[in-house]
Amino acid sequence: MAAMLLARGGSAAARALTFGCLRQLHTVYQTVELPETHQMLCRTCRDFAEKELVPVAAQLDKEHRFPDEQVKKMGALGLLAMDVPEEYKGAGLDYLAYSIAVEEISRGCASTGVIMSVNNSLYLGPILKFGSEEQKHQWIAPFTSGDKIGCFALSEPGNGSDAGAASTVARLDGNEWVLNGTKAWITNAWDASAVVVFATTDKSQKHKGISAFLVPMPTAGLSLGKKEDKLGIRASSTANLIFEDCRIPKANLLGQQGMGFKIAMQTLDSGRIGIASQALGIAQGALDCAVDYAEKRLAFGSPISKLQAIQFKLADMALALESARLLTWRAAMLKDSGKPYTKEAAMAKLAASEAATAISHQAIQILGGMGYVTEMPAERHYRDARITEIYEGTSEIQRLVIAGQLLKEYRG
Ligand code: CAA
Repeated sequence: MAAMLLARGGSAAARALTFGCLRQLHTVYQTVELPETHQMLCRTCRDFAEKELVPVAAQLDKEHRFPDEQVKKMGALGLLAMDVPEEYKGAGLDYLAYSIAVEEISRGCASTGVIMSVNNSLYLGPILKFGSEEQKHQWIAPFTSGDKIGCFALSEPGNGSDAGAASTVARLDGNEWVLNGTKAWITNAWDASAVVVFATTDKSQKHKGISAFLVPMPTAGLSLGKKEDKLGIRASSTANLIFEDCRIPKANLLGQQGMGFKIAMQTLDSGRIGIASQALGIAQGALDCAVDYAEKRLAFGSPISKLQAIQFKLADMALALESARLLTWRAAMLKDSGKPYTKEAAMAKLAASEAATAISHQAIQILGGMGYVTEMPAERHYRDARITEIYEGTSEIQRLVIAGQLLKEYRG
């Protein structure tokens, strides 16, 4: 990749430093001995990211282009339905495997990482957990191969963090639900073939009046807002979904009427493990870039990696990253063992997203001017990291969730 970037010109001396492949950690994580299957998966995803994502990530970002071809290849590898049982055409793996895969994919391209995470956690997740047998066959199996992807619509222009204040309504009219309202900030919106939507069926019941619905895309009465022009993750689409007398069959209610808020909260618990993993991938990519540069860049007669000022930064970056990875794996393993993991998922997302922001910031500091230009991936990692502290619950919401669960544990 660095060679490709060099071809775009610029100061020969500065660019000569970046010549050759970025230094990579070739060992599978050294923090904890992973099961053999997970190590193999990690290597497969890393190879895929190196070959299929790293060479195109900058261009996809620049052109705001959905990675269609790469998503199809990921579908063929089973990466779009990782914990979905094989009977519904999924890979039948666990959440630890999913976390590892999202990290590796995001290390290559964070946009592709979120596309993958939304399909796995936010779209397929609630259908797998709350869908009827018929719904699972209809709404899961076609969304595992990469030919179709899904999205999740909870936020609205008037409510984000206060998810229970949804104002989109669903009214039963004979054998159909009629949806009206606008959903905002919907990841995958322009590329999705179905959406899990939350709408209130009984306003007087507040969050207990919210229900979840399955809506095919495109469909009459559902239109897309403009594609948002974002700071980062620019190869993934984000847009409003506008429902105007959108009619769907009565059978498209997901779970029981009034269960929507709980479905959304439980879905976000899992989704936060995905976003934590995406943040780890961004952070690892930024650290790789910083180490590579520090080893090659000469100042005061030797590589800057010999300077304590740089070493202290690298040490803090590695510490934040590995701590967040352990928290993320713990949350995934708790989910895999069927234990509560709401607090741990929030901790993982908080730690990993803050680590990604801090590490990508310091990576640019180490690269100096080369970190500030688009010829190196550091500036993209910095832009991509920022959203991980916002979507699927801001850092402030994660702190609320952690404190809420903690106090519950103390109070017994
Ligand atoms: N699991 C199961 N149930 C839960 C739950 C969980 N994790 N969290 C809350 N609940 C239940 C509570 O037990 C309570 O149940 P009862 O009514 O039976 O007592 C009910 O839900 C209400 O709980 P709270 O009173 O705690 O709810 P609240 O209104 O105070 O909100 C909140 C809590 C944590 C702030 C929640 O609104 C929230 O998570 N907000 C953030 C929303 C968010 O993350 N949005 C992201 C949008 S999706 C996105 O970003 C996708 C993308 O593009 C990638």
